[in-house]
Amino acid sequence: MPIRELISSSKIVDRVQWMGAAIRQDFSGKPLTLVSVLKGSFIFASDLLRAIGRDDVGIDFLGVSSYADGTESTGIVRITHDLSKPIDGCNVLLVEDIVDTGLTLSFLLENLKARQPASIAVCSFLHKPSRQRVPVKIDYLGFTIGDEFVVGYGLDYAEKYRCLQYVGVLEP
Ligand code: IMP
Ligand code: MG
Repeated sequence: MPIRELISSSKIVDRVQWMGAAIRQDFSGKPLTLVSVLKGSFIFASDLLRAIGRDDVGIDFLGVSSYADGTESTGIVRITHDLSKPIDGCNVLLVEDIVDTGLTLSFLLENLKARQPASIAVCSFLHKPSRQRVPVKIDYLGFTIGDEFVVGYGLDYAEKYRCLQYVGVLEP
């Protein structure tokens, strides 16, 4: 399928550096653990971790599945891989690839809050506000996009296109 570039690789690099600097400043002097939501956020999370650039920032992974192989949210969120350690007392930064309906994020926030972290903030690479169905607060946002299904930079369509350095729209 042809792909139309929506966000260039250089724009992504600049924005992730900017987000990393903002997070470094906001969490100055505080311990911080990134929780990367698999699979879509793993490339963003790895770049963000390096952009934060603090040698004491840890990372853990939470696998969720909210889609079959299509482009529509099922609304059902399933944990496919849990965190490797408890997060009670930790400052957690939840790292998402994209907030679409917001169902996944609100489910995850409820789930993580129950584990009693010291604080929870949200960082999402992309946001599609036109599709949002439940209110969510994103503390650090990469880019706002329209109602289009995007791939690349970790985001997939049926497990394809995660490797793209840019974000693009599939043109049927
Ligand atoms: P939500 O629960 O509807 O907010 O969907 C969140 C999850 O759906 C994201 O973490 C993505 O994995 C996936 N998703 C939503 N929109 C897109 C898209 O445009 N491209 C690829 N994956 C998407
Ligand atoms: Mg996905």
